[in-house]
Amino acid sequence: MERTLAIIKPDAVAGRKAGRILDRIESAGFRVAAMTLMHLSRAEAEGFYAVHRARPFFGSLTEFMASGPALVMVLEAPDAIKKWRTLMGATDPAKADAGTIRKEFAESIERNATHGSDAPDTAAFEIGYFFAGMELV
Ligand code: CMP
Repeated sequence: MERTLAIIKPDAVAGRKAGRILDRIESAGFRVAAMTLMHLSRAEAEGFYAVHRARPFFGSLTEFMASGPALVMVLEAPDAIKKWRTLMGATDPAKADAGTIRKEFAESIERNATHGSDAPDTAAFEIGYFFAGMELV
């Protein structure tokens, strides 16, 4: 069993798409091990995306992530990291496969509806960034 950090981003929450995305998550066989709705501060968004600090889109990305509430969760399944990234589809919805969450719900490469950890070490950092051990059920 593996865990990954998933976020339904502010564009999808504001667009009332969270319920449909959660349905896709549960229908795909993930178990939700933790979940919270939170409105990140700019500093909290910058800390979460610190690995992207040097990228040209860092400023607008963190502004977007702090623009409204997001649904942050831990998903559990066999091979959860890869499985969630496959279900989300490519970062850029224009390049995402048909049937993926980003193809269906994302607005742009930045406002792309969902986030998922990309490797076991980033999953460990990202889960720990938002949740204490006792909050994982
Ligand atoms: P995410 O999977 O959360 O990881 C980093 C985020 O940066 C990504 O989703 C997008 O929201 C954003 N991002 C990645 N590439 C670009 C880009 N070229 N322009 C704007 N935003 C981007």
